[in-house]
Amino acid sequence: MSFMKLAAERYSVRKFSSRSVEPEKLATVLEAGRLAPTAANKQPQRIFVLQSEAALAAVRESTKFHFSTPLVLLVCYDEAKAWQNPFTGRSSGEVDAAIVTTHLMLAAASLGLGTTWVGYFKPEPLIEFCKLPAGIKPVAMLPLGYPAADATPSPMHGSREALTATVKYL
Ligand SMILES: Cc1cc2nc3c(=O)[nH]c(=O)nc-3n(C[C@H](O)[C@H](O)[C@H](O)COP(=O)(O)O)c2cc1C
Repeated sequence: MSFMKLAAERYSVRKFSSRSVEPEKLATVLEAGRLAPTAANKQPQRIFVLQSEAALAAVRESTKFHFSTPLVLLVCYDEAKAWQNPFTGRSSGEVDAAIVTTHLMLAAASLGLGTTWVGYFKPEPLIEFCKLPAGIKPVAMLPLGYPAADATPSPMHGSREALTATVKYL
């Protein structure tokens, strides 16, 4: 599939079938995250594959946007490893984690899997369950699975600004 077709056809899947994700497909998705670029190649991402009953209970306590998938990826970054921008004083960790998450999401779509990027979550249950030290910052959750036969994109998927609203040629 061409990149433009993948970019256009990927959508936030919020209804899943009961079919399990094959370990090889999960491995491919994770490999796509490993290949993502990060600032100064620091690779501060830390990804937790949540699939045990206890892990999924923590997910459900953390967010209503879990879509009942038996597999959820939690993408974090390690503050101590992330590049610090000397001009702004800001850590690049969140940007790096976002790039990694985008790779995971697009790789999943290319394999016929569905995800939704979930930013609306309470971090505490996950911090407690994963025993995350203070420097490991959760950024995104990705419930992962096969889309249900009747899954459809939300109207927001078709709603994008025109390039004239977001791009300026100077
Ligand atoms: C940073 C970020 C956070 C998001 N958080 C949530 C969320 O908590 N719950 C949810 O249902 N969708 C969430 N989404 C999905 C967006 O609503 C969705 O990507 C957007 O409406 C466009 O729709 P599409 O992905 O189907 O193209 C999030 C997306 C991004 C990029």
